Amino acid sequence: MGKVKFTETVLRDGHQSLIATRMTTEEMLPILETMDNVGYHSLEMWGGATYDACLRFLDEDPWDRLRVIRKHIKKTNLQMLLRGQNLLGYKHYADDVVDEFVDKAISNGMDIIRIFDALNDTRNLEAAVKATKKWGGHAQGCVSYTISPVHTSETFVKLGKEIEEMGCDSFCIKDMAGLLSPQTTYDLVKALKKELTIPIELHTHATSGLGSMTYMKAVEAGVDIIDTAISPFSGGTSQPPTEPLAAAFAETDRDPELNMDLLNEVAEHFRPIREKYIKSGLMDPKLMGVDINTLIYQVPGGMLSNLVSQLKEANAMDKYEEVLKEVPRVREDFGYPPLVTPSSQIVGTQAVLNVLMGERYKMVPNEARNLVKGMYGRTTLPIKEELVKKILGDEEQVTCRPADLLEPELEQAKRDCALYYQQPEDVLTQAFFPKVAETFFKHRIEKQEKLDLSLLDEENSVYPV
Ligand code: CO
Repeated sequence: MGKVKFTETVLRDGHQSLIATRMTTEEMLPILETMDNVGYHSLEMWGGATYDACLRFLDEDPWDRLRVIRKHIKKTNLQMLLRGQNLLGYKHYADDVVDEFVDKAISNGMDIIRIFDALNDTRNLEAAVKATKKWGGHAQGCVSYTISPVHTSETFVKLGKEIEEMGCDSFCIKDMAGLLSPQTTYDLVKALKKELTIPIELHTHATSGLGSMTYMKAVEAGVDIIDTAISPFSGGTSQPPTEPLAAAFAETDRDPELNMDLLNEVAEHFRPIREKYIKSGLMDPKLMGVDINTLIYQVPGGMLSNLVSQLKEANAMDKYEEVLKEVPRVREDFGYPPLVTPSSQIVGTQAVLNVLMGERYKMVPNEARNLVKGMYGRTTLPIKEELVKKILGDEEQVTCRPADLLEPELEQAKRDCALYYQQPEDVLTQAFFPKVAETFFKHRIEKQEKLDLSLLDEENSVYPV
């Protein structure tokens, strides 16, 4: 089976899961060359949340981060997470934006693009996969793992085959909620390996405490690549730790051949950064332990804390148990969507409303309406006609790929940022986050003007500088 390959997630999911995606490029920079020599298969370093956080909180151009990391990572693949037709945002974009984004990501140095859809509607992967192939990247098709009465091993094998037939270079099972258990994973990977010829990658989280065991069984079953985080940014809601897994597999015929001394250097670099964020309060020790709620309720931990805060706000914490029972019923009504952004919020909010209003679907927020309408794509099972009628009235459901209803959007985004335009990538930032983009662009000009002035001072100075 050959060596098991490692994707290191500290530059994306590791800090997204533990410190709300706030790690800066400056904090990454000094260790990049060491990381390049570890022997990793890839470094996951970009995604929707990193792009958003760079602009919104860190005053960094996410494209500069990609270019800077690429400059220092010469041998190892760079990898990103893409929300299918949602790209890095929260709505469906037109195909011209998809093509332009993928083109720019690859020409700025991205190697592997992991493409998933919240509903596992493979039609929502098509445009991004096509663009990735067109611009010479590695397209990794990805399914969001979930548990329900209608999700079996066969469901995921069928999706895997669809993804392989679409022309993807590899396949990933994304267990964003950390629901996978070791034996289930073993059976799933065995079934997938039997049917697929492209490499299979597994992405899980350590939330329930099962993560490392899950990887052990996955590797025994023949999985090709696993996602881990260097120890200071591992565990809890992040990935299982890189070093112990590398050491464990080094004793087997799947030896990943990672350089353990360099791994230690990487860990030493990130340890004080972890301490810094614990002191600042951004890293919550509660996220670091084992949370077996995911095993009991089979919903992501983040979703449970959202429910609690919604109920507290409504002064209705006494309804918590009732809401927890309502969640799987709503999920069934909505055709068993995987619980990941945005479907987890949609299902959770609807469950809260159903309980608080005293009548189911008396109040239906726009997002839930759009889900029922088909604006996010098709759900695992069709939504029952009765409920469609109650929520949509006479309005028809959308059955095509939702993006087929969209007119090209790139030209408008170009016009919208014309005032601040400095690079073609700005148009994409404008398209994804219009409000944040303007603030960011304005501030960029202010900083440049300041820099110009200080340069001017130096030139005019009579003293050597
Ligand atoms: Co993840």
